[in-house]
Amino acid sequence: MASSKDVPVFNRRDRIDPVPELTRLSEQCPVLRTELHSGPSSQVVGWLVTGNDEAREVLSDLDRFTMLPPADTEAQSRQLQNIGNLLHYDPPEHSRLRKMLNPEFTMRRLRRLQPGIDAVVEDCLDALEEAGSPADLMRHFAWQIPGQTACDLLGVPRDDRAELSRQLDITRDDGRGRARQLAAGRAYRAYFQQLTARRRRDPGEDLLGMMVREFGDDITDEELEGLAASLTSAGIENVASMLGLGTLVLLEHPDQLAKLIDDPGLIDRAVEELLRYVSVIPTLSPRTALTDVPLGGEVVPKGERVICSAFAVNRTAAPGAEDGFDLTREPAPHLAFGHGVHYCIGAQLARMQLRTAYLALFRRFPELRLAVPHEEISFRLASSRAYSLDALPVAW
Ligand code: HEM
Repeated sequence: MASSKDVPVFNRRDRIDPVPELTRLSEQCPVLRTELHSGPSSQVVGWLVTGNDEAREVLSDLDRFTMLPPADTEAQSRQLQNIGNLLHYDPPEHSRLRKMLNPEFTMRRLRRLQPGIDAVVEDCLDALEEAGSPADLMRHFAWQIPGQTACDLLGVPRDDRAELSRQLDITRDDGRGRARQLAAGRAYRAYFQQLTARRRRDPGEDLLGMMVREFGDDITDEELEGLAASLTSAGIENVASMLGLGTLVLLEHPDQLAKLIDDPGLIDRAVEELLRYVSVIPTLSPRTALTDVPLGGEVVPKGERVICSAFAVNRTAAPGAEDGFDLTREPAPHLAFGHGVHYCIGAQLARMQLRTAYLALFRRFPELRLAVPHEEISFRLASSRAYSLDALPVAW
């Protein structure tokens, strides 16, 4: 499905690997004018950037590229669902919100979440054992760990988590129909409206409580709700996809996995290499040119959309990108967490979870293996644009 010709080239894959067309583009045509299909209803023509230098240039040039879509650039209008989502802001508004969040994402502050991560990982492994071999690693492990961690971060009370997770499940299940998905999206957003109101009255020790205490007068309720809702969904989907696909890559490289089991000290390198190799976010959020921009021998006209393929850069264009999967290597530069001011704020939290989860999984189940033939694994591009797995049946 992921390699179907209906899917634009930047979202096509051969399982974990780039399709030859994407590799060819990256090598021969780092900036290409093409159909982007960026909106659900329309076929937008714009630019696909697959070169390393060119992508980094777009991502760091805040004077000439904006996060706002063309129609919005003049009016500066913002739809409700985008309020508080940092990926829809440019400086100085982006810097204002990001500065309020940054203190919650320092390593010192994040360390308080480690005991919770250790506990949820162990609980998930127990649940897997209880489910019995074979079991679905996505269901029992990959979704649960980031779900609980994001709720711990935001301060979502334990009793509310099952319902919130149910709503989020519906929003990402395309089989449920658009109307149900939209209703679940509204319920999900409404939950964060209530939680924000509760934290305004009674700020706790969590991220929302801290934001209210430190910056309560400088941030609107809508911004707080939007920040909380977008942090939760970004925090869950991307980590879940990395846990599933990363485990699959390890199982498909038994010689590499044996090295990690032998020497758990390799885990930091292994996580970095998996982030690069898997690239769960194949394309970064579209940017719009604010003026005519010369780029890679072309000129991107003012008002046109530009999509940077992190996947092409990570697997073809960046130095060392074409080497195969090697978890012992010196970490290669990658765009798995983006680049520039929108660099993933949750990168360290993601690394904490991935490190803990991969190590504990193979410590508990050193004989873990796929429970179905490779060709039966079903890959998909989630609505959030993360590459993911429907299920990962494993046996031990
Ligand atoms: C393996 C897991 C993750 C991956 C691969 C990932 C990837 C990314 C990427 C590529 C971007 C930049 C997008 C762009 O420039 O268009 C981004 C931004 C962001 N991520 Fe992550 N992410 C992960 C985990 C998390 C977690 C755990 C959180 C929060 C708890 C989070 C919250 C965010 C936020 C809020 C932004 C927007 C930052 C800004 O615009 O300033 N992410 N992430």
